[in-house]
Amino acid sequence: MIRGGTPLQGRLAASGSKNAALPIMAATLLAEGACELQGVPVLRDVTTMTTLLASLGASVSQQEPAGTLHIDSGSVQRFRAPYDLVKTMRASILVLGPLLARFGRAEVSFPGGCAIGSRPVDLHIQALEAMGARISVESGYIIAEAPEGLRGADFSFDTVTVGGTENAIMAAVLARGESVLRNVAREPEIGDLVCFLRRMGADIKGDGTDTLVVQGVSALHGASHRVMPDRIEVGTYLVAAAATRGHITIDGVNPDLLGIVLDKLQQTGADLSCESHSIALDMKGRRPMAVDIETQPFPGFPTDMQAQFTALNAIADGRSRVTETIFENRLMQAHEMRRMGADIEITADTARIVGRETLQGAPVMASDLRASASLVIAGLVADGETRVDRIYHIDRGYEDIEGNLQCLGADIRRIST
Ligand code: UD1
Repeated sequence: MIRGGTPLQGRLAASGSKNAALPIMAATLLAEGACELQGVPVLRDVTTMTTLLASLGASVSQQEPAGTLHIDSGSVQRFRAPYDLVKTMRASILVLGPLLARFGRAEVSFPGGCAIGSRPVDLHIQALEAMGARISVESGYIIAEAPEGLRGADFSFDTVTVGGTENAIMAAVLARGESVLRNVAREPEIGDLVCFLRRMGADIKGDGTDTLVVQGVSALHGASHRVMPDRIEVGTYLVAAAATRGHITIDGVNPDLLGIVLDKLQQTGADLSCESHSIALDMKGRRPMAVDIETQPFPGFPTDMQAQFTALNAIADGRSRVTETIFENRLMQAHEMRRMGADIEITADTARIVGRETLQGAPVMASDLRASASLVIAGLVADGETRVDRIYHIDRGYEDIEGNLQCLGADIRRIST
């Protein structure tokens, strides 16, 4: 339950990145020894990945300080990611490449349709087949085998895919010979995975570009790694501060990670001051100006920030267009915002928004992770009370969001999960 109208003010520390932590946790399956991960965010998706690794037989334990995980995959003796886990978290598909590369077999339930479009995994499968894997689909499971091990391949992705790139890298590091992966995703979280894999002994070149060259090695060893900060979490709080005409500072994040998101915030009229590891945003009490958004793979505008900017545009000064090019069906939050009085017209992949001075609090329903964050932002600016239902979506990707927003002065409380 949120009572809107208070400008956010104060200081927060960034959490570790969900989208970096999940592939890095999956990558521990490649190591012959134990791994230590620090800065792992406390989130439902991380718990799901922990359960998945433990169900394969890995030993996973939480250590002090919070966010430290010890993972030892030495005891893995099962190779199946069951439907019950994959259906709650699509990123479960990230165990496919590591299991296949290290143990020569993997069975992963097909991720079903999901609230933000069909999200196929054909490119993950094609990349692994190019490395010699035999893959079939039986009773809803992807069954992958490489009894003689994988071999390096030259593979080009038709579409830029983050998870597909991660699975292909994690397979290539233990394949025989060289792999050249072309048209790969360049998201910073992939750079963090590559950094962890290098610490384990992998030979990867070209990170940050659209072509990666991987020389396979015969084995990888355990390693320690601190997970990078969550640029989407940071971006979400900055947008919330801009929408409420507030003034906040976020520590523990390199501003370069936010790139185009900070450019767009500046266009709304925000004063930004960036240090090497902190970002301060000050609206000086002004109403934000509307900004056009079109989502693109990194370094373009991230689809995971689109819903939050839709909420900001709904109360901004002026007209804007928000175009979603990565996922179908990812403008659902805009329908809920209309129930709060937002002036948004939706056609295919574009929302046309006429900013209103304010929104009215209303009961609304979250449909996915970033949509829930955007409805919380809408609630923070609306007059009166907003009740966001199905808030469990938000716990997949935000650590203690209500606690953090309360620290920034918001009137928000959790009624149930
Ligand atoms: C990851 C992120 C998610 C983010 C998305 C795009 C994680 C855990 N999740 O998701 O937060 O929104 O990147 O930045 O890191 N596609 C295919 N075939 C495939 C794979 C993907 O056609 O085999 C398409 C998808 O349908 C989509 C596009 O490629 O249209 C991008 O999806 P992808 O980058 O794979 O997203 P995820 O890795 O699932």
